[in-house]
Amino acid sequence: TRVLVLNGPNLGRLGVRQPEIYGSTTHEELAQHLRDTGRALGLDVDVRQTNHEGEMLDWLGEAADGGIPVVLNPAAWSHTSIAIADAVAQVDVVVEVHISNVHAREEFRKHLVVSPYATGVIAGLGLGGYDLALTHIAAVAAT
Ligand code: DQA
Repeated sequence: TRVLVLNGPNLGRLGVRQPEIYGSTTHEELAQHLRDTGRALGLDVDVRQTNHEGEMLDWLGEAADGGIPVVLNPAAWSHTSIAIADAVAQVDVVVEVHISNVHAREEFRKHLVVSPYATGVIAGLGLGGYDLALTHIAAVAAT
């Protein structure tokens, strides 16, 4: 099973950006790790990151057309983007992941516009949330 892991704005700076919140692992290290985790689960994992909303919309459209399950961290777009929400609504399986516990931070991070259209949401479990999302997708693909 093919899976897209899609990371939104500023996540390319993982490891450098606010490491006290997001940790010291880089995006490339995360990508390597998730490809390995995926292989062990029988998944072909494609990890992508963009700071450009239109590019993310195109990737979500690709997932919708191809029936490809998605692990999505919409980052700041989680709180603002109706366009990302509309795109997510077209994809069958989307596990939304937040590295930090968005409910325990600033008030504005509690407002999640994409989440109502996600299959499920994982928040606050660090990068391990992505592994859990892949485990879920592998389990669903096996049924
Ligand atoms: C984030 C939380 C968002 O509020 C923030 O804008 C991010 C990352 C997370 O993974 O914890 O960029 O989605």
